[in-house]
Amino acid sequence: MQRTKIAGIGKFLPEKVVTNNDLTKVMETSDEWIQERTGIKERRYAKRFEDTTTTMGAEAAKIAMERAGVGPADIDFIIFATLSPDYYFPGCGVLLQRLLGMNEIGALDIRNQCSGFIYGMSVADQFIKTGMYKNILLVGSETHSYALDFSTRGRNVSVIFGDGAGAVVLQPSAREGQGILSTHLHSNGQEAELLSMPNPGFHAGRFWPEKKPAQPDGEFGGMFITEEIIRTDDLYPNMDGPAVFKKAVIKFPEVVMEALEKNNLSTSDINMLIPHQANLRIAQFVQQKLRLRDDQVHNNIQQYGNTTAASVPIALCEAWELGKIKDDDLVCLAAFGSGFTWGSALLRW
Ligand code: ACO
Repeated sequence: MQRTKIAGIGKFLPEKVVTNNDLTKVMETSDEWIQERTGIKERRYAKRFEDTTTTMGAEAAKIAMERAGVGPADIDFIIFATLSPDYYFPGCGVLLQRLLGMNEIGALDIRNQCSGFIYGMSVADQFIKTGMYKNILLVGSETHSYALDFSTRGRNVSVIFGDGAGAVVLQPSAREGQGILSTHLHSNGQEAELLSMPNPGFHAGRFWPEKKPAQPDGEFGGMFITEEIIRTDDLYPNMDGPAVFKKAVIKFPEVVMEALEKNNLSTSDINMLIPHQANLRIAQFVQQKLRLRDDQVHNNIQQYGNTTAASVPIALCEAWELGKIKDDDLVCLAAFGSGFTWGSALLRW
């Protein structure tokens, strides 16, 4: 069966650089604390009232399409992964279709947070392998800066995240051996709330009684962004950092090994591992556990922070632009995040 290749890749990082020292102006934190715990030195924030998740995704997509030698009219399916969409609905996929003036093709939005890009890649791979589509545009894009608590209360979350976008054009490969070898997707919702943003939502406190929003006045319902949510400032992400850390360092190596074993390969065969840029400490732990050399792993969280669904394509694009990935290299992508969901993709470049 014909494999799916990455025909073109692009990334977009907004210009505004926010250093750890910049954050100390609005919250009690320090460059030392952030670097020691996360490895992050700086991150990018979207240009306010100008960059959006869709516009940044479109910029990355234009580069990916140009490198693939295709135009918007050639794309036959869009997959857009984000946890920070421009609208509650519709999703960013259709906004991208409009912005890039594409045909009336299908547009699918993926809500799998940090592993969204890998989930998207797996979906695209199935469509291409079955011959349904020939040019799929897969985008991961995030605007975190609009929805972070920049007071000291939110510091354990807000210092970690950054904005940006990455995109790939996926096509059937004509070269023997090239392309996606396998993808592996997992989820376990037992601890969904450990890394979550429950509001605005329709949960009614059903799963998390402490987060029960005040009931709307109307007989049948009403606004789901209640005064209670606004009064308690409960519109920000929650994260139990230590619990996420412990899960991540188990699931990352597990899902990388699953991909290698499925293809009768071992860690020494990996030319480049691109781990989702959750936290440099997590990536280093995974590298150590898999006994990978420094030249087998690419990290850039130091410059961009954690950009969730955008982190894998941004890091993959950067590694390729730096000449760290060459034809026929074995590349492994792996991610773990909110849900929890996790996954990997193994491909021959
Ligand atoms: N600056 C200064 N102090 C802080 C900050 C901050 N930004 N954030 C928290 N602290 C304080 C806390 O208030 C706490 O103080 P206390 O001891 O007086 O109560 C202390 O630092 C330790 O807090 P912890 O949350 O226990 O800090 P920890 O050492 O676990 O580090 C971190 C927090 C960095 C979030 C860590 O748990 C971690 O890396 N977890 C993994 C989660 C992760 O990477 N998430 C990324 C998103 S999820 C994903 O992409 C997979």
